[in-house]
Amino acid sequence: MLVPEREKARIRTKDRVITREYSINDEYRSLGLGKTYFVKTYGCQMNVHDSENIKAILEQMGFEEASCMENADLILLNTCAIRENAHNKVFGMIGRIKHMKEDNPNIIAGICGCMAQEEGVVKEILDKYKWLDIVFGTHNIYELPKILKKAMSSKKLEVEVYSCEGDIIENIPVKRDSKYKAWVNIMYGCDKFCTYCIVPYTRGKQRSRNPKDIIKEVEKLKKDGYKEVTLLGQNVNAYGKDLDINYDMSNLLSDTAQTGIERIRFVTSHPWDFTDEMIDIISKYENIMPYIHLPLQSGSNRILKLMGRRYTKESYLELFRKIKEKVKNVSITTDIIVGFPSETEADFNDTLDVVNECKYDSAFTFIFSPREGTPASKMDDDISLEEKEKRLYKLNKIVNMYAKEANEKYLNKVVKVLLEDYSSKDGSTLMGYTDTMKLVNVKAPISKLGEIVDVKITNVQSFSMDGEMVE
Ligand code: 5AD
Ligand code: SF4
Repeated sequence: MLVPEREKARIRTKDRVITREYSINDEYRSLGLGKTYFVKTYGCQMNVHDSENIKAILEQMGFEEASCMENADLILLNTCAIRENAHNKVFGMIGRIKHMKEDNPNIIAGICGCMAQEEGVVKEILDKYKWLDIVFGTHNIYELPKILKKAMSSKKLEVEVYSCEGDIIENIPVKRDSKYKAWVNIMYGCDKFCTYCIVPYTRGKQRSRNPKDIIKEVEKLKKDGYKEVTLLGQNVNAYGKDLDINYDMSNLLSDTAQTGIERIRFVTSHPWDFTDEMIDIISKYENIMPYIHLPLQSGSNRILKLMGRRYTKESYLELFRKIKEKVKNVSITTDIIVGFPSETEADFNDTLDVVNECKYDSAFTFIFSPREGTPASKMDDDISLEEKEKRLYKLNKIVNMYAKEANEKYLNKVVKVLLEDYSSKDGSTLMGYTDTMKLVNVKAPISKLGEIVDVKITNVQSFSMDGEMVE
């Protein structure tokens, strides 16, 4: 048994990170034959992509994907720790699985992802949920066959979570959710330690993948018919800083663009590391999408300082204006936290000022959620939940107004959309995103799935648009 320790997770060493190749031992290849699995994913794109790896590993072991959780012999919850509500949802689901296991004790159930990296969560599992079968973390997904075998033969809870990150493992198999767009990890972990954020503890120190491995993956995706890649990292602008080869995010964007893949996106950017070179490269290449997610978090300099964000309202606005000026037709979205400890009405109004100035295309807004072990969770917080909810409501109203305004500019225009799936609206409509990441429901023949087509926008709402394909 190996349990996570927060004190160890906090440590940052200067050790160079080693890159190793994934391999699976033959002894694990038939372990899942005749059995089915279901992976439920919570949280960000990084987790979604990790689940794509987990699914492929399970299929190497002989498991087949179940149509729903109720039909599965193996259930894995790939969890998120970013806010308390994500946490609560997972414990609610564990309760549901307990009932399923009471009816069918042969079900194997486990937890992985960011919550599994939390010391307190694993303690709670060992205390109250000993009936679970496996717990593994974000750093050892590649060891799933070994851990699962142990749990299946011992029939006892197997906990195997490393506190520290370890090596980069290349060529973990992947079962991608889409045939047209793909997630590509460019780095793991984060060293920014924003005071509210648990990610540096659950995902470890920043480790950039070698550029040649990333480019090889993108080239292969292009050859396989993929139209879009999203370069993934917690703080992609810091890409390369931990490699001593004088190669940064602007170099990576440029090399990725030169593969000729049709669409390139990247998330998430931290305003601190956003360089002029990056802006130049984004504006230079047509296949780098004019869409940037630029988390603000707060518009108050006092709160930004308490958050450890390393920029001011003024420097953020300067960067924002520069991007708007240089990248033609760019859409910019953001993340905002309200109710950070000690946030006053005046601080909140500073945030509203920035929102009123930036008129974001859209924004993800959150109430501050104290995460155990982070500096912000120990700060005095004298604002009532009622007040925080009031601020969130007020902010959302403004954010939604600008989102609608931004979308209205698209009415009657013709835009390019990558048709990626059926729309949830009705069976005969497809859906996809514009280069600027606007969701569009499109009337188009099903044969056009997977293609980038011209679409005339006929109707807009705050969060989506409707359109018709034009020949
Ligand atoms: N409380 C509320 N929101 C948070 N985020 C990260 N940590 C917290 C927290 N403790 C938000 C930030 C980040 C997004 C992914 O989640 O806005 O950009
Ligand atoms: Fe968390 Fe992002 Fe800050 Fe890293 S940069 S600590 S992931 S909010």
